[in-house]
Amino acid sequence: MTVRVAVLSDIHANPFALAAVVDDIARQNVDEVIVGGDMVGRGPLGSEVVARIQDLGWPGVRGNHEDYTLNFRRQNVEPDWLTAREWAASRWMAAELLPDQIDFIDTLPFTLAASGDASLRVFHGSPDSHCEGLGVWTDNAIIESHFNKIEESVLVCGHTHRPMVRETPGGLVVNVGSVGLPFNGDPRAQYAIFTQKRDHWEVELRQVDYDREAFLKTYKTTGFMDAGGVTAELLTHEIRHARPFLVPFIKWSEATGREPADMDAMPEFLEVFRPGMSKRDFIKMITPG
Ligand SMILES: [Fe+2]
Repeated sequence: MTVRVAVLSDIHANPFALAAVVDDIARQNVDEVIVGGDMVGRGPLGSEVVARIQDLGWPGVRGNHEDYTLNFRRQNVEPDWLTAREWAASRWMAAELLPDQIDFIDTLPFTLAASGDASLRVFHGSPDSHCEGLGVWTDNAIIESHFNKIEESVLVCGHTHRPMVRETPGGLVVNVGSVGLPFNGDPRAQYAIFTQKRDHWEVELRQVDYDREAFLKTYKTTGFMDAGGVTAELLTHEIRHARPFLVPFIKWSEATGREPADMDAMPEFLEVFRPGMSKRDFIKMITPG
């Protein structure tokens, strides 16, 4: 019997992208769906996403943003993060979840295997950490060391927001990309379907269009844009360009001596920053003189 498993990750509080993927999955004849973490964070509608996942009953693993959210909600962060302007968006997002949704994300396990004898295991980041991103840059030796920690021959992950299918000596690594906040230059919602053949898995990376402008309107209607300041503004650029803006802005602000979360610095940053620029060009840009 052919087994088909869908894995979606990094929804990031974007129910519009999630709805498009749910519709697409409904047409794909899959046996099982697993969520790879980061349902919440970096977006205004985390509670809507968690409610939908609970409703669907899809099992999922814990991402770093589930932990950030729990830590903010429980005030288990540096004391100044509870008042500083640059953490306003994080505080707002953590406060937006309902109490039972906080309990729910706290139940999510670090890893999940596909059911039955399917040889496929899902992590948010890697077997070592939900903050370790596996990508084209990761050495084969590191990947092999990860396969030594698991029994399965397929390691499925997210976290980087960049999809990847990579055959390595240790096994097959698949990064399923991001549903709600991709960074690979393709702004559509992304996920993957795995089909088990006799002696291997076939992987299909899928991309599904959705109404991004309708989602971005909710930044204003929910109050997230006003409360989240620079962070919320930078996230709108990430949604539109499918490239990182937030972390580059923070690094640029530090390098140029700006106050953190200074909205007045945004026009200057946007003037010099090119989405998707290489690390070398970015370092050149943020190096004074
Ligand atoms: Fe993420």
